Amino acid sequence: MPRGVTEMPWGRRVAAAAVAAALAAGAMAPAAAAGEGASRAGLVSGWREFRRTWTPPPAFGTWDGLGPLYDAESCAECHFGPALAGRLLIGEGGVVARGLALRLGDAEGRPDPLYGRQLQTRAVGAVTAEGRVVLAPTAGPVGFGWTAEALRGPLAPATSVALRLAPAIVGRAALARIDEEAVAALAAAQAARGDGIAGRPRWLAGADGTRRLGRFGARADQPDLAHQSAWAFALDMGVASPIVPAAAGDCTPAEADCLAAPDGRDANRGGVEVAAPEIAHIVLWLSTLEAPAQRRAPPPGAGLFAAAGCAACHVPTMPATGGGEVTVYSDLLLHDMGPGLDDGVGAPGVGSRAWRTTPLLALAPHPGRRYLHDGRAATLAAAIGAHGGEAAAAARAFAALPGPDRETLLAFLAGL
Ligand code: HEC
Ligand code: HEC
Repeated sequence: MPRGVTEMPWGRRVAAAAVAAALAAGAMAPAAAAGEGASRAGLVSGWREFRRTWTPPPAFGTWDGLGPLYDAESCAECHFGPALAGRLLIGEGGVVARGLALRLGDAEGRPDPLYGRQLQTRAVGAVTAEGRVVLAPTAGPVGFGWTAEALRGPLAPATSVALRLAPAIVGRAALARIDEEAVAALAAAQAARGDGIAGRPRWLAGADGTRRLGRFGARADQPDLAHQSAWAFALDMGVASPIVPAAAGDCTPAEADCLAAPDGRDANRGGVEVAAPEIAHIVLWLSTLEAPAQRRAPPPGAGLFAAAGCAACHVPTMPATGGGEVTVYSDLLLHDMGPGLDDGVGAPGVGSRAWRTTPLLALAPHPGRRYLHDGRAATLAAAIGAHGGEAAAAARAFAALPGPDRETLLAFLAGL
C-alpha cells in the first residue's frame, strides 16, 4: 500500500456536514444520541481519531502506538472516504490498491502459529514486515490476480490467505441497532420455509459469559463498532486498546523481534495506546454517517429486487431494538454462498463458505470501486453473478430478467 497517501476527498466538508446534520433537531442516529459524549466536541474528536496518523514508538508526543506490525497509519488510509470502498485501479502498469488486508487462518478461523491473524505488510524500525501482496492485471472480467508472499518463513499447511477489501462505512453503524430477537426469529422463519435459504445467526461469547449477536465484519465477527474498531486498531495498525490490550498487536510468540520492539503504552491512557473514550468518539462519529437509502425513499426498482428473491437475505428494513426500523438491506445472518466464494479462512463453527449478508449501502460506482469481500467483482452485475449456494436461485432469477428490468435493478442498487 502506498505510504503517505494524503488524498482525503471528503475531509472537513463531510465532517462539518455530518456534525451539523447530526446536531440539528437532534437528528442524530439514536445509538449516537444515547451514547456518552454526544456532543459536538465528541463528534469532531471522533472524526479526528479516525483520520489520526499514528507514529512508531517511542516518539515525543502521545500518538505513538503504531506497530510493530501494521498495514496502515490511520483508519482513513483504508477508509479514505465514508462513501468510498477500497479501490483497485487496474492499468497497463499494474494494479494500485488501497484498503486491502490479508487475513490468515484455517477453515475454523485458527490463526497461523507464526504470522497470527493477518499478514501485515509494514513494520516499524528494525522489525521486518511479514509479507506483501503482489497484484497483477489479468485478462478476463475480474481484471486482476493476486498472490501473497510470506517473508518470515512458510505459513502452516492449514493456513489460507484471504484478501479483504474495505467497504464504504456510511450507514453501517445502524447494524448495531437491529433487534437481536428479530434476527433470531428471521433465522427460524427462513429454516421453516424450506426454500433453500437458511441463514444462521452468529452468537459470540461475551467476556461475562453472556452471548452476543455478531453483527460487524464479513463473517459477523464483532458484536459492536467498539469491537470492530479495536480489532482494526490491533490488526491493521498494531495499536493496543482496552478491548485488545496486546501492545505488540498481531505479533505471535514466534516473532521475537516484534515482541521486543518498543511500544507506546501510556499511563495517561490507562496503560494502552488508544483509550476507551477515543474509540467511543469514533463510534459516535461513525453513527452519524448515513447512506442515501437511509436519508430518503428508496429508488425505484424495489419490486424487482424483491421479486428476484434478493430481499430474502438483503432484508430492506429490520426492527430496531426498542422500536422503529433500521434500513441496511441485511438480515445479519450467515449464508452458505457456495464453493466459488469460499476463501479458506473461516471462523469457529462458521466455516469458510458462509458470509454475513452484506448490507447494501453506498454501492454507487466510483473509480476503482469493487464489490464482494475480496473485491473480485468490478461491477454490481458481476457481484450478483458470483452469488452461489443459498443465493444461486436469486442469481439465476436476476440473469433471467429482461434486459431493461436488469438495468432498473442495477440502477436501484447503485442508488442505495
Ligand atoms: C488496512 C486497511 C484498514 C484499516 C487501517 C482499517 N480498516 Fe476498517 N475495514 C477494512 C477491511 C478490509 C474491512 C472488511 C473486513 C471484514 O468485513 O471482515 C473493514 C471493515 C470496517 C467496517 C465495516 C464493518 C462491517 O460490518 O461491514 C468498519 C465500520 C470499519 N472497518 C472501521 C474501521 C475503523 C474505525 C478503523 C480504524 C480504527 C479501521 N476500520 C481501519 C480495512 C481497514
Ligand atoms: C442467500 C442470501 C442472499 C441472497 C438471496 C442474495 N444475496 Fe447478495 N449477498 C449475500 C452475501 C452473503 C453477500 C456477501 C458475499 C461476499 O462478499 O462474498 C452478498 C453480496 C451482495 C452484493 C455485494 C455488496 C458489496 O458491497 O460488495 C450485492 C451488490 C448483492 N449481494 C446484491 C444482491 C442481489 C441484487 C440479489 C438478488 C438478485 C442478492 N444479492 C441475493 C447474500 C445474498
